[in-house]
Amino acid sequence: MTAADMRRVGVVGGGQMGAGIAEVCARAELDVLVCETGARAAAAARERIAVSLERAVQRGKLDRISAEASLARIAVTADLTDLEDRQLVVEAVVEDTVAKTEVFAALDKIVTDPEAILATNTSSLPVMRLGMATDRADRVVGLHFFNPVPVLPLVEVVTTLHTSPAAKHEVTDFATRILGKSVVHSTDRAGFIVNALLVPYLLSAIRMTESGFASAADVDRGMELGCAHPMGPLRLADLIGLDSVASIAESLYEEFKEPLYAPPPLLQRMVAAGLLGRKSGRGFHAYDRGGEPR
Ligand code: CAA
Repeated sequence: MTAADMRRVGVVGGGQMGAGIAEVCARAELDVLVCETGARAAAAARERIAVSLERAVQRGKLDRISAEASLARIAVTADLTDLEDRQLVVEAVVEDTVAKTEVFAALDKIVTDPEAILATNTSSLPVMRLGMATDRADRVVGLHFFNPVPVLPLVEVVTTLHTSPAAKHEVTDFATRILGKSVVHSTDRAGFIVNALLVPYLLSAIRMTESGFASAADVDRGMELGCAHPMGPLRLADLIGLDSVASIAESLYEEFKEPLYAPPPLLQRMVAAGLLGRKSGRGFHAYDRGGEPR
């Protein structure tokens, strides 16, 4: 299969990342089917995509006709078996090995084209374990997007010991030529390139506020104004989702056993308290219902 043959894309999970992946695929004129856990979650995923497309129109990145055409290319379902005719499926469910393994085992039986690629958007879990849940580990890859997906140009393509060179080439070509993203390649190690570097930095910022060293506002202002980062580490952790940051940190710590990857107690307590960042309205900062800082 060539990248140009991948016209029917499935996305499993319509949260922040899944919705973003569906949006960029639809904007690339692909037929997109998003699978969620139930009718309500599926409708919420569609709404998330509609809001993002509207934002792109408001910011002058997309004309209204293209936005409407993109939304029309996206269907939602609550039935995974509807993905049977997909040529590429990107899994973007919760960052949990059991949940992801179940999805891969099921997709392996559902997706009929043996040349189809099964990809995971995991940030840090072993892609190999997902490949081994299927009978086509040579067609399983990591395709890791960055949040917000329509805005950030990078995709990490992650290959396992079993991924075939053809599958690596096809998804790289797909991400660059069809989606217009830039690709970096990583082997299958927790955190790949970007999160292995980013997450210890975010955790250090959390430890800084936890110890009373500096306020969350000052930590963020320091990095925004002193290093020209578009957002400080605590606001970025809020954007990623504190539950996701904690899960990635746990995977990194489990893989490398380096103390710098261990999730700080404050992060774990905030997750337990439901303070998940932008998506829950409160993390290190407070947000309104539209996710804008208050
Ligand atoms: N579609 C297309 N473009 C859009 C858009 C959309 N839906 N929404 C916004 N944009 C564009 C805007 O037009 C604007 O473009 P220009 O700069 O060309 O004008 C740009 O995106 C910024 O948008 P806004 O003005 O709305 O917002 P902002 O200036 O406050 O920036 C931000 C917001 C893009 C999130 C920026 O702060 C940023 O890049 N932050 C860092 C995000 C980051 O580091 N993400 C990586 C997280 S790590 C990850 O995701 C991996 C993981 O596994 C955890």
